Amino acid sequence: MIGIIGAMDMEVDGLKEKMSSVTVESIGGSAFYQGVLCGVPCVVARCGEGKVNAAMCAQTMALQFQTSILINIGVAGGIGKGVCVGDLVISNGLVQHDFDLSDLGYQKGLITNLEKAVIPATPMLTSLTAHVAREVYDGNVHIGIIATGDQFIASRDKLLDIHSTFHAMACEMEGAAIAQVCLLNQIDFVVIRAISDNADEKADVSFEQFAPMAAQKSIDLMLKLIPAINTQRGISL
Ligand code: ADE
Repeated sequence: MIGIIGAMDMEVDGLKEKMSSVTVESIGGSAFYQGVLCGVPCVVARCGEGKVNAAMCAQTMALQFQTSILINIGVAGGIGKGVCVGDLVISNGLVQHDFDLSDLGYQKGLITNLEKAVIPATPMLTSLTAHVAREVYDGNVHIGIIATGDQFIASRDKLLDIHSTFHAMACEMEGAAIAQVCLLNQIDFVVIRAISDNADEKADVSFEQFAPMAAQKSIDLMLKLIPAINTQRGISL
């Protein structure tokens, strides 16, 4: 079973519409749509914004739906050099930019019980997603670190700080929480984000204007990626 999580309706509604044999179950504040997507058993949920919502949803997918792969899709602020609105960023690692024990002598972002700051995405999923994206997508496709925090970033100072501290290419509000749940439950995962804004002082206006277009791009990619994962794995999901 593949689990797909988006924070907002616009990030998952287009997938729910394409599912067949759907059953819906509400758990912990999220509705889980289980069914078949592109011939593959999947469960799709909108988790709501932020790390707590995302972690709850991912853990439910692990326990209740026995997902072997989790994919987090949606929009993000672009913070890397040359990362523009409409581009795709595919994670090779996730970090919580607002997790900070530095006053206790730890590296910023370091999660002590995991002994790491950056949680690597599953390499096979990162490379397969990039491969599929480059075949079907007419914008730039970047592979890099995605930084997560419980804030909408709309300040040049903050975005430069996140970029220089974590070498991140994009910022959003759920990915690293899902990554942590996946690591702790031995679930393969990747985070795929389409850029809706540049996380600067104009981010709110850009988000309003471009988020629906960016969300649709990540949905379109998923509809190509799901069958590709199924073929690649060659085993039942
Ligand atoms: N999602 C889309 N744009 C974002 C931003 N600028 N900050 C955090 N999450 C986002």
